[in-house]
Amino acid sequence: MSEKATLTYDGKTTELPVIIGSEKEHAVDIAKLRDQTGLITYDDGFRNTGSCTSDITFIDGEEGILRYRGYPIEELAEKSTFVEVAWLLIYGNLPTRTELRSFSDMFTEYQVLHEDMKYHFEGFPPNAHPMAILSSMINACGCFTRELTGPYDPSKFKRHTARLISQVRTIAAFAYRKSLGLPIVYPKPEYKYTANFLHMMFSMPYGDVDLEPEAVAALDQIFLLHADHEQNCSTSTVRMVASSRANIFASAAAGVCALWGPLHGGANQAVLDMLGQIRNSGDDGSKFLESVKSKEGGKRLMGFGHAVYKNYDPRAKIIKASCDKLLARLKQNDPLLDIALKLEETALKDPYFLERKLYPNVDFYSGIIMRALGIPTEMFTVMFAIGRMPGWIANFKEVMDDPKSRIYRPRQIYTGPTMRTYVPLDQR
Ligand code: ACO
Repeated sequence: MSEKATLTYDGKTTELPVIIGSEKEHAVDIAKLRDQTGLITYDDGFRNTGSCTSDITFIDGEEGILRYRGYPIEELAEKSTFVEVAWLLIYGNLPTRTELRSFSDMFTEYQVLHEDMKYHFEGFPPNAHPMAILSSMINACGCFTRELTGPYDPSKFKRHTARLISQVRTIAAFAYRKSLGLPIVYPKPEYKYTANFLHMMFSMPYGDVDLEPEAVAALDQIFLLHADHEQNCSTSTVRMVASSRANIFASAAAGVCALWGPLHGGANQAVLDMLGQIRNSGDDGSKFLESVKSKEGGKRLMGFGHAVYKNYDPRAKIIKASCDKLLARLKQNDPLLDIALKLEETALKDPYFLERKLYPNVDFYSGIIMRALGIPTEMFTVMFAIGRMPGWIANFKEVMDDPKSRIYRPRQIYTGPTMRTYVPLDQR
């Protein structure tokens, strides 16, 4: 069914096509609006703008629904794995046994970095933030595969993708080891994706770390839950960069930079910092919540609120349950978890949070799991980046495979000075 919206402006009525998505979302197509009326649309921060059509992920923020390629996140979190979901996101369907095997084999083939990359790690100061290292090294990685910096080649895409997903975890683990001055531990071909990452993080050249299956499963689930989230800040960045036909490593490196900010992926680190400060001040969270509500110093309850979810983030529910299970299994008692539970309980009864529809998001409990696994706070956003890589790649592919895809180029409403004449320096 084709629908139209009408816009009346300056005495003239214009018909605009309405696009309808597979979940019945309606959007007014304004691509020809300027040609027809001289108008552009204004939407600060793109909050009401569909920047593309996409087959990858569906979110209903009011109902708290998240689906990857049609599969509910709850079902995938319970039954699937990160690697399987990576395939699903990138190629559109759950992999067959053969596809999954060859995908995993490619991760093994590409898991080791070019030996010269080690010199790059040595150039960073010991206290460099691992997100800075990650974005630089992903871009540097591209330089070691010359064909990567050339035009997009669909016949090589599968290999490039496997290289990127595999190497991002090697880079992340090396960045961590470097920050502690520890020797680099190479990956092992017999380990699966997430186990191999934990091995590179925590083993020593003289002895392998004991990998608890529950710990590996909890981190694998965190990666899976972060794997895509439609047009968020970092994914839109990846699409924007890809639209100029930049290569996949350059596009992903830009995604890492966008993810770093505390209002986006950096929130998981900010949550733990916040919980630590509350504990150190002897507060149980009540005083802190009062200061948030009075907006003292622009304070926010980190890990709460979401640009799209105006309901409980479905990922937060899964992570909370997994957090309880893991801490019980590892026989750990984390005082920061008690503070988080108290903050959540109080906030969910408080009119300030209810009226603004502020609920826990994915970052509220994920940090407590990562802390239990021994992952340092500064590495939390890096974990997010490892998880988000398949989503970035799937979006990159959508841009590249679309024959109608054009360079992204929003317009603006200029509000600066109107034309003025240059004044020479000695007359100012
Ligand atoms: N704590 C306290 N108040 C908040 C919070 C919060 N976490 N989030 C929003 N608010 C308040 C704002 O102060 C504002 O109040 P006002 O109406 O009195 O001015 C109102 O709620 C609306 O806030 P906006 O900033 O307009 O909401 P927006 O949708 O733009 O922000 C965001 C979403 C950035 C996630 C915000 O909720 C936030 O800063 N949360 C904390 C950081 C965080 O957890 N980020 C992770 C997001 S999930 C992710 O990226 C994976």
